Amino acid sequence: MTRIAIIGLGYIGKVHLETLLRIPGVQVVALVGRRMGPLEVLAAKYGIPKVTTNYRTLLEDPSIDVIHNCTPNDLHFEVNRAFIQAGKHIFSEKPLARTSQETRTLVELAKGKNVLTAINFCYRYYPAVQEAALRIRNKELGEVYTVMGSYLQDWLLYDTDYDWRLEQSIAGNSNVIADIGSHWFNLAQFMVGSQITEVMADLKTTLPIRKKPEGDGGFTEYPVTVEDYGSVLLHFANGACGVFTVSQLAAGKKCAIDVHVYGSQSALRWNHERSAELWIGHRDRANEVLMESPQLQHRESKRYALLPTGHPMGYHDAVFNLFTDFYNALALKKQGKESSVALPDFSEGHRELMITEAILQSHREKRWVQVTE
Ligand SMILES: NC(=O)c1ccc[n+]([C@@H]2O[C@H](COP(=O)([O-])OP(=O)(O)OC[C@H]3O[C@@H](n4cnc5c(N)ncnc54)[C@H](O)[C@@H]3O)[C@@H](O)[C@H]2O)c1
Repeated sequence: MTRIAIIGLGYIGKVHLETLLRIPGVQVVALVGRRMGPLEVLAAKYGIPKVTTNYRTLLEDPSIDVIHNCTPNDLHFEVNRAFIQAGKHIFSEKPLARTSQETRTLVELAKGKNVLTAINFCYRYYPAVQEAALRIRNKELGEVYTVMGSYLQDWLLYDTDYDWRLEQSIAGNSNVIADIGSHWFNLAQFMVGSQITEVMADLKTTLPIRKKPEGDGGFTEYPVTVEDYGSVLLHFANGACGVFTVSQLAAGKKCAIDVHVYGSQSALRWNHERSAELWIGHRDRANEVLMESPQLQHRESKRYALLPTGHPMGYHDAVFNLFTDFYNALALKKQGKESSVALPDFSEGHRELMITEAILQSHREKRWVQVTE
């Protein structure tokens, strides 16, 4: 049995908890949060033996094999580093840390300690995305010419909408690029099978003064220094070029991720609002829509299509697919073997931080910036 501690039980921590209940051979044995009351309620609900508000008490705990780090960004580096040094395997939330210096340190430490790492870049675990990536790798689109898309939300539209992601001291130097841009460019690079090498960015903090809610129903004004909108031109290593836009102020858009890939022969589009569908574009015949399906997908991608054709999977299932790959890889690692399935590991998290920093630099200096070590 593999024993797990989850640190941070806000929105995504609970998604981790509920998804882990579906993974065979693992058990969540400890929860770490800021307040005992809610932790005890969760622990009672799911039969979890240990709760604590101090993650450090688990560092030397031999009954814990894996940490799921679901804390806000400012704790990612500190928590990941401490548990890697203690020899625990780590499944971390994105962004991996707040600077590429920190993410580089984590990659090197994890290598040195020989621990397995992964990051929750979950959107690529939808079956239709896996199918798209496979078709692009198999050259079914021909040569990839362009990659375009967006990730739009509206939950920060009003100046009274508040979240820690708006505070640079917690989020890091970037809000929307690090938060949802990182998902978009991880997804696009995975689908295309090629890395982003150069960026040219235009960012904006649409609401530089916002109102933070106070307990008494009032608000305090505070300055926002991180961006809530960005458009970025891209160059990929394979010669493709592209562009994406991210915003948290796009009324009506909740979690609207869109990736289009146009090749020399045909095109593919995946959209999170219709996540079970893969649009296939042709020039000389009618376009097609492939529904995710264990019957209709390629042999290598259909293992991610868990339900009979016509029954759409959801966000929890994408996370489940990623967790399944992670825990299968861990089981192989324990036998001294390596999984043949690539995970979004800490080196990818480091790469996404380097892209984020290149985007911030490009905006500051108003020029193309290369993504280099
Ligand atoms: N992969 C995804 O799709 C996805 C989705 C949402 C969030 N995230 C990432 O997950 C992280 C958390 O985001 P969220 O939306 O769940 O935030 P959240 O604010 O809802 O939850 C964070 C939790 O961490 C707890 N916490 C803070 N300090 C702590 C400490 N010292 N010890 C233990 N717990 C502590 C908070 O009390 C809170 O419950 C962020 O880095 C975010 O980028 C990823």
